[in-house]
Amino acid sequence: MYKIQTSKDLSGEVKISWSKNAALPILAATLLVRWKIKLHNVPKIGDVLTFLEIIWTIWATHKFDWNTLYLDTTHLDISWMNVDMIKKIRASILLLSPILHYFWNISIPFPGWCSIGKRPIDAHLNWLRAIWYDYKTLDSNIKITGKPNSWDVVINAWFWVTSTENLIVANVLRPWITTIELAAIEPHVMNLIDFLRIAWADIKIRYNHTIIISWVKELKKEVEASVISDYIESWTFMVLWALASKEFIDIKNARIEDLYSFIAKLKEAWVKLEDLWWDILRVYRSENLKAVNVQTNIFPGFPTDVGSPFMILMTQADWVSKMHEILFEWRLNFLVELDKMRWHTAILNPHEAMIFWKMDLKWSEVTSWDLRAWAAMVIAWLIAEGETRVTKIEYIERWYENFVEKLQKLGAKIEVVKE
Ligand code: EPZ
Repeated sequence: MYKIQTSKDLSGEVKISWSKNAALPILAATLLVRWKIKLHNVPKIGDVLTFLEIIWTIWATHKFDWNTLYLDTTHLDISWMNVDMIKKIRASILLLSPILHYFWNISIPFPGWCSIGKRPIDAHLNWLRAIWYDYKTLDSNIKITGKPNSWDVVINAWFWVTSTENLIVANVLRPWITTIELAAIEPHVMNLIDFLRIAWADIKIRYNHTIIISWVKELKKEVEASVISDYIESWTFMVLWALASKEFIDIKNARIEDLYSFIAKLKEAWVKLEDLWWDILRVYRSENLKAVNVQTNIFPGFPTDVGSPFMILMTQADWVSKMHEILFEWRLNFLVELDKMRWHTAILNPHEAMIFWKMDLKWSEVTSWDLRAWAAMVIAWLIAEGETRVTKIEYIERWYENFVEKLQKLGAKIEVVKE
């Protein structure tokens, strides 16, 4: 269990870890390379370690040297694949493309929903069918078979992230040309494209979210690449420093070009911050916050994954603010729990909520939601009056590397208590 006490005098600097949402699709793409890959900046967090466990069962072996991962995907064999583990993480859907490319069939359980929404996979299956794989749903499993066709295909991705990633990986070795319209271009999608280009894939990107993939006969054998820093962690910490730093805190390894929409929103809310140099952001303690309305959007708009921490910031603003979450129908549910902290919110519908102005938060027991909401709750507990006892904070370690240790180094009063 963790005991969290009010901590509004944090100081020092924090280095942003590497992105889970970038590492996962790249790990899937290494299975396409079928050789030795050296991947720098791989976060050692729950979902990544689970993904590595799954691909180990198809003989994709690996070893870590700090955050550098040495992978060997030469000899893949799906005979002993542990398909039950696929249900553990949503991102396992990314295994479809490389495995189908080499084995032409796979039967997997539905990756399942989660606490932010239904998370359907119909688009993944329809687009795989568009390049010739066929699928049948048998109870809670999906059986996909077939060979990729050899003619030009145009597919619409509706800006969906892992579906775009699955489509990119499914087509770099498929003859002939694949055009993905309305593709997602989040930083982690671009990181995947960078990795595949290093491996000699022919991928072009147009300004209008169109990705054009031309067939290459084979990929480069020895590939070395790097994972980018986690812009979602950067945004989460920017909120925390605005509310709980003594004077200011520096954020290192923040890819500022990924943060423009969030920085604009924070400035609109009168948060004081400075873009120093070499991707260092200095965020100052900001007392007189202005209530602002937010609508989440596709990148480079305001991302859905930082809506929850931003709503914590708005609890300390001077008036009523409104959150419009365009994507996930259950993302706002965690607000219900926050009423226990004397924080008045109104969920208007699955996609809109109002946050009422400045309240002194009182801690409360919580139930579990999505992991981004958990990170937001840590911010709420650190600025709330009183002591909070939390029994499930290890959830956060699934998606944020050394999250609690980083906060403790800055002076946050988070104590690990044996239950
Ligand atoms: C990715 O999820 C991220 N996950 C999510 O991050 C992120 O919140 C999301 O993109 C939106 O940016 C990874 O990158 C591993 P979806 P993704 O649910 O692509 C519709 C986090 O916090 N849709 O597939 O899996 C449906 O409405 C996680 O790190 C279909 O209808 O998101 C869905 O809710 C949470 N059919 C929405 O798109 C489909 O087949 C978002 O897509 C696919 C999507």
